[in-house]
Amino acid sequence: MVHAVVATAWGGAEVIEVVEVPAVPPGPGEVVVAVRATAVSPFDVKRAAGLIGRDPAALPLRLGNELAGVVTAVGPDPTGFEGGRLAVGDAVLGQWLDGAQAEEVTVPANALLHKPPSLGFSEAAALLGSGTTAAHALAAVGLAEGDVLLVHGASGAVGGMVAQLARLGGASVIGTASPARHERLRAAGVTPVAYGPGLADRVRALAPGGVDAAVDTAGTDEALSVSLDLVAAPRRIVTLVNYGAAEAAGAQWIGPGGETERIRPAAREDLVRRAAAGGLAVPVAASFPLAEAPAAYALQAEGHAGGKILLLP
Ligand SMILES: NC(=O)c1ccc[n+]([C@@H]2O[C@H](COP(=O)([O-])OP(=O)(O)OC[C@H]3O[C@@H](n4cnc5c(N)ncnc54)[C@H](OP(=O)(O)O)[C@@H]3O)[C@@H](O)[C@H]2O)c1
Repeated sequence: MVHAVVATAWGGAEVIEVVEVPAVPPGPGEVVVAVRATAVSPFDVKRAAGLIGRDPAALPLRLGNELAGVVTAVGPDPTGFEGGRLAVGDAVLGQWLDGAQAEEVTVPANALLHKPPSLGFSEAAALLGSGTTAAHALAAVGLAEGDVLLVHGASGAVGGMVAQLARLGGASVIGTASPARHERLRAAGVTPVAYGPGLADRVRALAPGGVDAAVDTAGTDEALSVSLDLVAAPRRIVTLVNYGAAEAAGAQWIGPGGETERIRPAAREDLVRRAAAGGLAVPVAASFPLAEAPAAYALQAEGHAGGKILLLP
């Protein structure tokens, strides 16, 4: 048996428990990973709350989808994401691995990449979910060198990645965040601005030449309406959250399905290379032992952690 995080009902941190589940031997194309670090993301909070689906048969619901760890057993033909075979002892990372919040998971080998030694297990577990989403968002708005990009939620896990990748792509970035995070944004080369009433005027003052594109990770009506005020072409605005309103206004949204399944996996190897080489910072806001999963969910639900939240089994 291994310990795993589950939602026992639909709700907040109070429904999160760490329970024993059977260990599963690896089948063809599968490997067993001893998890060293696994992320708790807003998506996990939404799943536990029943916002993604409410099938009673799914309870207790295993949670998590990003991890880094060490391969402890392999099934027949354990071909990894990069094409080579995985072996016992390999350090790996991966995303889209259902039930990743556990001491040990049995998962498809082809979802796992080798973890370079220079990338810590925590950074590795925190990298792919926000990194691939950020790469997708920038592709969606067609970011070009010299653009001025407005990032709503630049102090968050995804927004922080969007800002970094945009800067690496030669854009100037104005990022919204609560004032306590402004110094950190400035140090990362981002021009910070407080969200809240008057946001459009504050951004205009910071970007007299205009804003070319916007990425909304905050999901507020303010983020969308300010983006529509400031960006001439609505198609150069993308939201990760506020789907219906964005579509009605001619802006874009990105989420599960469609292009996501092509663009995000295609971004993985480049993100790993950049992070391992020190060219991409992976902000980890807080780490908890697996047994303290409810506290990690409570922090995530507040929406102001300032980076990824991890469980360390
Ligand atoms: N569609 C997709 O494919 C996809 C993929 C990944 C994530 N997401 C979604 O994207 C969102 C962000 O994810 P994340 O992991 O980056 O979350 P996060 O780390 O919690 O970041 C949240 C960000 O929102 C800011 N914020 C909080 N309240 C705000 C408000 N009232 N107005 C403006 N900004 C506010 C926070 O700023 P301060 O902390 O400075 O206050 C922070 O920068 C979540 O809803 C998540 O589910 C969607």
